[in-house]
Amino acid sequence: MKRIEILILCVMLAVTTTAGVKADGKSEGEWTTIRNGQVWLTAEGDTVQAHAPGFVLVDGVWYMCGEDRANTWRPDVNLYSSRDLVNWKFEKKIIENGVTTKELGRSRMIERPKLLYNPKTGKYVVWCHYESRNYGASEAACFESDKVNGEYKYVWSGRPLGVKSRDCNVFQDKEGTAYFISTTEENQHLGLFRLSEDYHEAVEHTEIFSHQRREAPAIVRLGDTYFMFSSACTGWDPNQCKLSYSNDLRQGWTPLENIGNNIAFDTQAAAILEVRGTKTTTYLYVGDRWQDPGLPDTKTIIFPIEFEGEKCKFEYHERFDINFTTGEWRETPTDGLFVDKSGWKVVESSGEAEGRGAGRNVIDGDKTTAWFSRQGEEGEALHFIQIDVGRKQKIRGLLLTPNLQAGGRGLVRDYEFLVSADGKEWTVASSGRWMPYYTEVDFEAQECRYFKLVCKRSRFVSVAEIDVMKE
Ligand code: DGJ
Repeated sequence: MKRIEILILCVMLAVTTTAGVKADGKSEGEWTTIRNGQVWLTAEGDTVQAHAPGFVLVDGVWYMCGEDRANTWRPDVNLYSSRDLVNWKFEKKIIENGVTTKELGRSRMIERPKLLYNPKTGKYVVWCHYESRNYGASEAACFESDKVNGEYKYVWSGRPLGVKSRDCNVFQDKEGTAYFISTTEENQHLGLFRLSEDYHEAVEHTEIFSHQRREAPAIVRLGDTYFMFSSACTGWDPNQCKLSYSNDLRQGWTPLENIGNNIAFDTQAAAILEVRGTKTTTYLYVGDRWQDPGLPDTKTIIFPIEFEGEKCKFEYHERFDINFTTGEWRETPTDGLFVDKSGWKVVESSGEAEGRGAGRNVIDGDKTTAWFSRQGEEGEALHFIQIDVGRKQKIRGLLLTPNLQAGGRGLVRDYEFLVSADGKEWTVASSGRWMPYYTEVDFEAQECRYFKLVCKRSRFVSVAEIDVMKE
């Protein structure tokens, strides 16, 4: 039997690979760098449109299906493939409005399509949220294909076992039993639905997390412990991710515990992927950064998470390296990437000159300290910080580390980044209405000794670190 694993997931961007060779000459695989927050493009230069993705791993190839939000409200379902979660090939539209079913694109739309491989039937199955425009239908649907990139045919739609069902995911247990998990009865509970052997229908319903209003569930199993990540129901806006665990999918879930910051680093859970290698297994959290800034601009974010006993280390990584041979991950070596900050000075900043929120916090290399601008009226150009980097340098990008403790408060959105050789004449190197969350912003290389960040729209901003990229 082919070795096929169902996981879930996705992400990303530019890739660099570094080969590792052991003393005995055997390859230890390559390191792939995954950078978060950027638009993913195919080799043809098309935007990857596969949001709220579902994944299946087939012979070392990740297949990812997800919502095509190019036309915002009537998403088709696209399928992509990749060996490294970075270079994505468009396979095809697997579910299409008006084609796969007549009602799709009219009285129904698809959200959160999730992939499963059924080892018993040898078929590929998509379960998803199947909804009317006002979210009143509260239905699910199932589609099936003989091949992962084959023709997905409609199998069923409706309320599973009569239960109103919205936001959803799937989980395949080690023994091949599959579950559909969804937010039920007007977003009150989570429902765990065991699927029939052919994965075509729900055959058992267990209400879990009753009255806790959770959605975006993602389950992963480590040994005999199931971990569930989930969010609150705040539409497309991010909120606190919470974790619970149990040794039994149907009962015994521990009280929900906060992980990460109060906006889950501007994501909502989509999947947990397992990268199994010769040395270890790395778990990758995959989340949607919805509306960044519009729905079609939603990004897929991926970062490694680590489990220790019943605890999960859930920390954002703007970039990291993954080795698909050994299964290891590491921090991306950044030597030569950023301009060294020793010798930097804050010339001037809005907000506190001294104290806890002082401007110098953005240059101290410590992500736990932050600059707070003063509170002002929305629309005023109040927030600025000017830095002297000590000598002329050529720079080509900017990375703002947000104040992670502040979560969704104080984010820089509307900004100008100006550079100057003498601190008098300024050139705009980069500007926009939407500074993406904790993401490298690249611009045409500029020689400068001074730079200035100006933020216009927010009432206040708070930034933990400012880094600039060397040319
Ligand atoms: C939040 C869900 O998580 C999304 O998948 C989507 O259904 C939006 N709600 C719709 O408002």
